[in-house]
Amino acid sequence: MRAHDEMPRHDDEVTLAACPDGPLLLRGPVRIVDDRGQDVPRHRATVALCRCGGTAIPPWCDGTHKVNGYRSET
Ligand code: FES
Repeated sequence: MRAHDEMPRHDDEVTLAACPDGPLLLRGPVRIVDDRGQDVPRHRATVALCRCGGTAIPPWCDGTHKVNGYRSET
């Protein structure tokens, strides 16, 4: 079991979990806005936010972290 799976979940709970050498997994009812304050539509209950800086579809992870050598410290 991974660390982000260990805590009980509730429908109104928000969790942000760091994947080793990968994205941040955001779960729960949270509004995401861009740098202009505009809503970023999300279509899934769980979304992956890029933290390597290499994605072509920000703010979402597109898997580029697997090929660009990104290493997380957490
Ligand atoms: S973390 Fe996956 S593309 Fe950046």
